[in-house]
Amino acid sequence: MRSLSFCIFIFLVAFKAAAVAAEYNYDEALDKTFLFFEAQRSGKLQENQRVKWRGDSGLKDGSLQGVDLVGGYYDAGDHVKFGLPAAFTVTMLAWGTIEYRKEITELNQMGHALWAIRWGTDYFMKAHTQPNVLWAQVGDGDSDHYCWERAEDMTTPREAFKLDQYHPGSDLAGETAAALAASAIAFKPYNSSYSELLLLHAKQLFSFADRFRGLYDDSIKCAKQFYTSSGYSDDLLWAATWLYRATNEEYYLKYVVDNAEYMGGTGWAVKEFSWDNKYAGVQILLSKGRGGAYTATLKQYKAKADYFACACVQKNAGYNVHLTPGGLMYVREWNNMQYASAAAFLLAVYSDYLSAANAKLNCPDGQIQPQQLFDFAKSQADYILGKNPNSMSYLVGYGPKYPVHVHHRGSSMASVYNLHSPVGCVQGFETWYRRNEGNPNVLHGALVGGPDQNDKFIDDRSNYEQTEPTLTACAPLVGLFSKLQGSSKTSGMAVCLLVRT
Ligand SMILES: *[C@@H]1O[C@H](CO)[C@@H](O)[C@H](O)[C@H]1NC(C)=O
Repeated sequence: MRSLSFCIFIFLVAFKAAAVAAEYNYDEALDKTFLFFEAQRSGKLQENQRVKWRGDSGLKDGSLQGVDLVGGYYDAGDHVKFGLPAAFTVTMLAWGTIEYRKEITELNQMGHALWAIRWGTDYFMKAHTQPNVLWAQVGDGDSDHYCWERAEDMTTPREAFKLDQYHPGSDLAGETAAALAASAIAFKPYNSSYSELLLLHAKQLFSFADRFRGLYDDSIKCAKQFYTSSGYSDDLLWAATWLYRATNEEYYLKYVVDNAEYMGGTGWAVKEFSWDNKYAGVQILLSKGRGGAYTATLKQYKAKADYFACACVQKNAGYNVHLTPGGLMYVREWNNMQYASAAAFLLAVYSDYLSAANAKLNCPDGQIQPQQLFDFAKSQADYILGKNPNSMSYLVGYGPKYPVHVHHRGSSMASVYNLHSPVGCVQGFETWYRRNEGNPNVLHGALVGGPDQNDKFIDDRSNYEQTEPTLTACAPLVGLFSKLQGSSKTSGMAVCLLVRT
């Protein structure tokens, strides 16, 4: 009798685990995320482009300055190619691809993952025309936002802006170096010559960033209002950390250790991870390291990684990340989802690092198992996909209910393949932006800015703080969804084995 009831109990657990795993389809969410990156492509599109409502665009980018800057990604609902968030995006795409290679391969998505990265890296390498020259931006926010046009019709100025030794930008050049170094690791098993090329550019950009110090938005003033950089020390440490991981050269490890204090790597305890603030990412990457004379400093980095993780799981002696009543991490009004998705990815990675080291997290308010970090990461992904007070998905095109008035030019207007005549700058606002109807083109896989601190969300095109999607918010989802899909499978299997024995 006892053994029979034991069996039934296990069965129920198995059934429940399967039901939980099936609640959200991370595999589908992952596939959609890649579609968003296709929709954001600038330049000449490929034959196998899956987002059919988009066409070629920006084919003269850079020509005014005599440089080929065709390609790359549009930033958000507009058509500026902003360098800093685009580079952070590619770093995050590459990090997810490196960390969850096995999962992505099993899900048959490695081809899409590598192309999502490459659409960025091919462009960054084009834009890096000399060792100390990096073209950092095409188009400007003011004139771009003045019009509501399809990318294919674009009439707004496409002036390009560059960094060089007299106009430095250690943050942007550093982040681009990080993106190329991380991508070199991601590509290594698939195309070693491409990987080497990426690494060459990454090394040059890092020394450019390090030798000629400055904020990129002091050099490119028109970026200031849109992507203000609060500093470049984190970017330099971040670039060196990725270069160390890509090359294993002691030079880069020594750099992060020697500059740990001066650049704030072991001093800053942060609760935000974003395109502007990479300290938590650096700290978590370096938490793994051990290396003779460097060990003491690496431990200090780890202590700050722990601070970030403890603050997310609300065990940090009151210095916690703010959560909405529905459980979403809340950092800022404008495009808050980017902070939640980036933190969730970071915690999923950190839970893996801790598990691999057989370690636990000692927080001021108690000891935390790696599984609890993972659970927090999952809670953020599930909130995004529908487990929230509005019972809606903030990932466009996923599930039965999602935002339909996404603040995105291309999505909100009829495709160039359906409406052949160009739509003018102001006409776009009058005919399409102010329409009550939902967008004609579903922007699959776009993560919108998301709800406010009380979980309230207003699906209105003019509510761009909440309805505009960004590259930076979507990029961490690639690693996060891959990890979640991978582990929902393994947990199901483990339970099955239990039932059999
Ligand atoms: C590898 O990368 C190079 C560019 O460095 C490219 O020309 C080549 O087509 C790539 N090979 C494969 C198999 O993708």
